[in-house]
Amino acid sequence: MIITIDGPAGSGKSTVARLLASRLRLRFLDTGAMYRAVALAVLRAGVDETDVPGVTTVARSACIEFHDHLLLLNGDDVTDAIRTPAVTAVSSVIAALPEVRARLVELQKEIGRQGSLVTEGRDQGTVVFPQAEYKFYLTASTETRARRRQRDLQDQGESMELPEVRAQLARRDHRDQNREHAPLRPADDAVLVDTSDLTIQQVVDSLVARISPKPARECHKAPPGQSKS
Ligand code: DC
Repeated sequence: MIITIDGPAGSGKSTVARLLASRLRLRFLDTGAMYRAVALAVLRAGVDETDVPGVTTVARSACIEFHDHLLLLNGDDVTDAIRTPAVTAVSSVIAALPEVRARLVELQKEIGRQGSLVTEGRDQGTVVFPQAEYKFYLTASTETRARRRQRDLQDQGESMELPEVRAQLARRDHRDQNREHAPLRPADDAVLVDTSDLTIQQVVDSLVARISPKPARECHKAPPGQSKS
């Protein structure tokens, strides 16, 4: 079973997807982390994010692997290093390149072929797993998303004023929604969930409620009149 959760930054999709996966005992895939890993590789290689051939070469040669809760880039644990503001900014630029997307989409499909999964990102329901059994698209008001992002930054020891957080979010939304390749949008058959006024637990509960367990095998009923009593 594949469950996709797409949506903009700050919609709560990462936390929700992680909790949903653990509740359903399914694997979890954070595809944003993969774009972040490529961005970090680009920064480490000293390649300019606008140098398309340079970024493409880095993306094609980067070895990106998940080990339990860790993300490895060329064998290095980069789980925390991919969460800096610099990586966030570059990831949204390189995510617009079709060469980068092709490489990561192929990796994501390969992970999907290995079994059931809750996967989150921007294009999971539209491009990577159009055949997914369940598709969700999480949204939230800009104000809510900006406050959540500011709190995440604080948790990482970074402080940023709310207007700056809001402006960065708006730039990223604009790039993610208006790029030519796999822009951020809900799949036609996705269930839309506005998380602005919901707790994480309420969102997870509402998703679980929509995911029906496999139908139990129909019992063969005895024809009328033959039932034992
Ligand atoms: O979800 P995130 O903030 O970790 O994502 C980092 C960037 O990667 C973001 O700008 C959007 C991009 N991204 C994407 O284009 N497609 C995905 N499936 C996941 C993330």
